[in-house]
Amino acid sequence: MPETFYITTPIYYVNDKPHIGHAYTTLLADILARHHRATGRKVLFLTGTDEHGQKVAKAAAKREIAPQKHCDKMVKRFQDLWKRLEITNDDFIRTTEKRHVQVVRRILQDLYDKDLIYKADYEGRYCVPCERFFTDKDLGDEGECPECGRKTDEIVESNYFFRMGNYQDWLVDYIKSHPEFIQPPFRANETLGFLRQPLDDLCISRPKSRLAWGIELPFDSDYVCYVWFDALVNYITAPGFASDPERFDEFWPADIHLIGKDILTTHTVYWPTMLKAMGVELPKTIFAHGWWLSGSGKMSKSTGNVVNPMDMIDKHGVDAFRYFLAAEMSLGQDAVFSEDTFVSRYNSDLANDLGNLVSRAVKLIARNNDGIIPHPGAETALEEELKDAALSAAKTMDDSIENMKLDRGIAAVMAAAKAGNRYMEKTAPWKLAKSDPENRLDTVLLSVAELLRIVSGLLEPVMPSKTREIRERLGIQAGPASTAPLDKWEASVAGASVLDAGPVFPRIDTAKSAAGGKAEKQATIKNKKEPAMEDNEKTNTVDLITVDDFFKAKLKTAKILEAEKVEGADRLLRLQIDIGEEKRQIVAGIAQFYSPENLVGKSIVVVSNLKPAKIRGVESNGMLLAARIPAGGLGLVTLDGDIPPGCSVG
Ligand code: MSP
Repeated sequence: MPETFYITTPIYYVNDKPHIGHAYTTLLADILARHHRATGRKVLFLTGTDEHGQKVAKAAAKREIAPQKHCDKMVKRFQDLWKRLEITNDDFIRTTEKRHVQVVRRILQDLYDKDLIYKADYEGRYCVPCERFFTDKDLGDEGECPECGRKTDEIVESNYFFRMGNYQDWLVDYIKSHPEFIQPPFRANETLGFLRQPLDDLCISRPKSRLAWGIELPFDSDYVCYVWFDALVNYITAPGFASDPERFDEFWPADIHLIGKDILTTHTVYWPTMLKAMGVELPKTIFAHGWWLSGSGKMSKSTGNVVNPMDMIDKHGVDAFRYFLAAEMSLGQDAVFSEDTFVSRYNSDLANDLGNLVSRAVKLIARNNDGIIPHPGAETALEEELKDAALSAAKTMDDSIENMKLDRGIAAVMAAAKAGNRYMEKTAPWKLAKSDPENRLDTVLLSVAELLRIVSGLLEPVMPSKTREIRERLGIQAGPASTAPLDKWEASVAGASVLDAGPVFPRIDTAKSAAGGKAEKQATIKNKKEPAMEDNEKTNTVDLITVDDFFKAKLKTAKILEAEKVEGADRLLRLQIDIGEEKRQIVAGIAQFYSPENLVGKSIVVVSNLKPAKIRGVESNGMLLAARIPAGGLGLVTLDGDIPPGCSVG
C-alpha cells in the first residue's frame, strides 16, 4: 500500500466570486498534491465550498433568489476557476450536500447525547443591521458596532453551546507537546496567546427566527447549526467519517490543513476541541499562510483593489500566474501583489533565465547535431559543477516542500537554470568544433539537456503545462527520460529529438503591457534588492541609456543608524538611515553578507527617489547600492573620506 497524503484547503464562502486569496491556497495545495503524487504517494486533495450561514444567506437575499439556487450558481465560479488554474483536486465538497449534512447532524446528536452540547441563555450586544453579536471588548466606546458603527442592543437569546471550555488545558498541552501541529511556529504562539484567556463554551446554534439558512439541529428544529461548526466537519466528511470507515482510516488524520492566517482560531481551537469531543484524532499539521496585499494594503472590494485571478490568467497565461504566486510568497509571511512585480519576475526568471536556456539548448542541438541530443564524452570540472547545481536544486526542492518553504525550493531550481546559462557562457558551445576529438560539444549539449530535464521535472508541480512544453522541445515528454529520477544525473536524454518551435516563455513587452514601462524598471530594482536570488547575467539584454536616464535616479549618501533582521525573511535587513534632510527605513537583501551590528555607522549610497515598496510586508523607502561579486558574495558601495549624509552622488 502506498503511503497516503491528505491535504485540504479551506472551503470557500459562496457569497462572492473567487479572488487571489482563494486561488493562492488552492494552488499551493495543488502544488503539494502534485509533488506528493509524483513521489508515489496516494493523495487525497480536498477543496470545496462553505454554503451555509449568514454571509451566504445575505448574498442570496440581495440577489432575491433562494439560498440554494444562489449556491448552485456561485459554486460554478469556483469550479471554473479551479479548472482554469489546472487544479487537480480529488474531491470537491459542498456543505449543502447530503453526505455532509448527515455527518454534521450525527455529530451534533452524539455530542448532545453525551451532554457535551447544552442549552443556555446567551446574553450579548447585538447589532441588528449586521445581524451579529459582539463581545464588550470589540465594541466602540459608546457600545457601538465595530463593523458599521451603529448602536448595538443588549439581547438575551436561548442557544445551544458546545463545552469547548472543558478542553482548554488539554489543548494547551497538546499544542506544546506537538510542535508540528500548528505551523509556522509563531502561529502556535498566537494560539497559545489566545488560550491564555479563559476559553468559553462555543455557541453552535442560531435560532431560525434570526437565520434559517443552515443545517437543522437534530434535537431542536427551531435552530440551525452555526456555520463554522458545520464547515469544519467537511474535512472528515470527505474521507468517509461515519460513512466509509476503511477509507477514513486510510486518509485520516489529514497531513495538512492549509489555511489563511485569519482563520487560525477556528482551526486551531474550535476544530481540535470538536475532534477531541468526538474521540477523533487531530490533523497532523495546520499551516497558516500570510495574506496577499495590494501596494496600498489589504485587498478589499470597497477599495477596488482585489485581484481577479481569471483576469491575470487571461492576460498572462495560467502557468505564469501559478509560478508568480508560488515563487513570490514566502510561506507564512504576507506578500504584495502588483502587476509590475509580476511582469518583472516573469521576464527575469522565466523569459530570461529558464526560457533563454531552453531556446539556446534546443537551437544548438538542432544546428549542430541534426536535432538529436548527443551521447556525452568525458566530463570536466564544469560538468561536475553543473551536475551539483542540478542535484542540489532537487534536494532543496524536496526539503523545501517537506518544510513548507516552497519559494526557497523554486529559487533553488531557478538558480540551477542560471547556472545552466553561466555554463553555456563558459563552455561557449557555439565555438566548439564538431570534429573535436574529445567530443566536447557533445558533452556540453548533453549536459544542458540533462539539466533541463531535471529543472523541468522539479518545476512540473508549479507549471504543469509549460514544463510539458519544455520537455516537448527537448523530445523527452515520453520514453525513459520522461520518468527518469530527478535526483540522479544520467544520460537518459541522449538520443531524443529536439523541436525548435520558438520561445516557451515569450518576453512580456512592458511597453505594450498595461503595467507600462514601470515594470521594466522594477525588474532591475528587484534584482538589486534581493542579491541572494543571484543576478541573472543580463548584460546582453540591457539597453544603453542616456545621461538623462541615469539622472532620473537620485543617488544620495546616507548613514546607517540602526539595522535589524526582518523576522521570517532570511535575506532581509531593515535599516534606519539618515539621508540628510530626513530619516528613512529601507529593506535590503544583504542579511547573508552583513550582520546588523557591523552595519551601524557605515556611510553608504542609496537611490533616494525610489517609489516606496513593501518587501515581505515591511515598508522600504529607497534602495542601497552594492556590488555583486561573481564568485558569490556582495560588497556595499561605501564612501571615500568623511562625507556627510544627504550629498548627491552622480
Ligand atoms: N468559509 C471559511 C473557511 C471555512 S474552512 C472550514 C472562509 N472562507 S473565505 O472564503 O472567506 O476565505 C477562505 C480563505 O481565503 C481563507 O483561508 C482566507 O485566509 C483566504 N484569503 C482571503 N483573502 C486573502 C488574501 N488577500 N490573501 C490570501 N488569502 C486570503 O473563511
